[in-house]
Amino acid sequence: MRIDILTIFPRMFAGVLGESILRIAAEKGIVEYHLTDIRDYTTDRHRSVDDRPYGGGPGMVMKVEPVVRAVRDVRARASPEGRLILLTPQGETFRQARARELAREKRLILIAGHYEGFDERILEILKPEEISIGDYILTGGEIPAMAVVDAVVRLIPGVLGSDESAGSESFSSGLLEYPQYTRPAEFEGHAVPEVLLSGDHEEIRRWRLEQAEKRTKTRRPDLWRSRAGGKEAKGYDDEPSAGA
Ligand SMILES: C[S@@+](CC[C@H](N)C(=O)[O-])C[C@H]1O[C@@H](n2cnc3c(N)ncnc32)[C@H](O)[C@@H]1O
Repeated sequence: MRIDILTIFPRMFAGVLGESILRIAAEKGIVEYHLTDIRDYTTDRHRSVDDRPYGGGPGMVMKVEPVVRAVRDVRARASPEGRLILLTPQGETFRQARARELAREKRLILIAGHYEGFDERILEILKPEEISIGDYILTGGEIPAMAVVDAVVRLIPGVLGSDESAGSESFSSGLLEYPQYTRPAEFEGHAVPEVLLSGDHEEIRRWRLEQAEKRTKTRRPDLWRSRAGGKEAKGYDDEPSAGA
C-alpha cells in the first residue's frame, strides 16, 4: 500500500512512522509512506497556506489553492489515484470497521488540516471522504492522520506476525477483548484466574468469550446492542458487527 500524507508539518511524522509496527511494515515493503508539504504548493513569497475568513470571525482558514494543487500533483505521482481522506472533526467517526476496509486499498491520500479548518471549496472540488477520530478538537490533522495510518497498517496481511494477530483484539468481532495476564501467577495477593493455568484450551476459550461479553455489556452497552442486535454472541471469529 502507498500512503501519501499532505501536511504543513511533515517533520511531525518521523517518530511515529519510524518506530515499531509502522517502521517494520515499511521495511518489509508492505507499505510506503510519502510526506508532502502543502507549503510547497504556495506561490507567494511568504508561502501562506492560510488567510482570514470571509465574513469575519476568529482564526484563519486553510486556503483552497495550495491544497487542491498539492492533491492533484500527489495523485499524479502514482497509480491508482487512491482514496482521498480529509481529517476533520466534522467527518464520520473512525472505527475498526473503516480501518479494516481501508486496509484492503492499494493507496490512501490523507490531508491534515490546521487553523480553524478548510476553505469549503476544498471539499466541493476534491470531494474527499471526511474522517474524525472522535468528538474533540485537536490543533491539527497530523495526530488524527497518524491514528488512521496506525490502525490501518497493522491490519494489512503480513504486517503483524501470527503472535500479534489482530483477530482477537477489541472490536474485531464487536466485543472488547478479554482480560490478559502474564507471569507471575500471583502478585500482592492478586492471583491469575485458575482456568488460565489449567491448560484446557476449550475451557480457556469459553472463559475468555464470557469475560469479553461481560466487559462489553457493562463498559460499552452501545457496542453490545449493535452486535447482532445484542443476540447470542458466538466468538471472535464471527463477522464483525456494524458498530465495531
Ligand atoms: C483546530 S481544528 C479545526 C476545528 C474546526 N474549527 C471545527 O470546529 O470543526 C484544525 C484541524 O485539525 C484537524 N482535527 C482536529 N480535531 C480533529 C478530529 N477530532 N478528527 C480529525 N481531525 C481533527 C482537522 O484537520 C482540522 O481542520
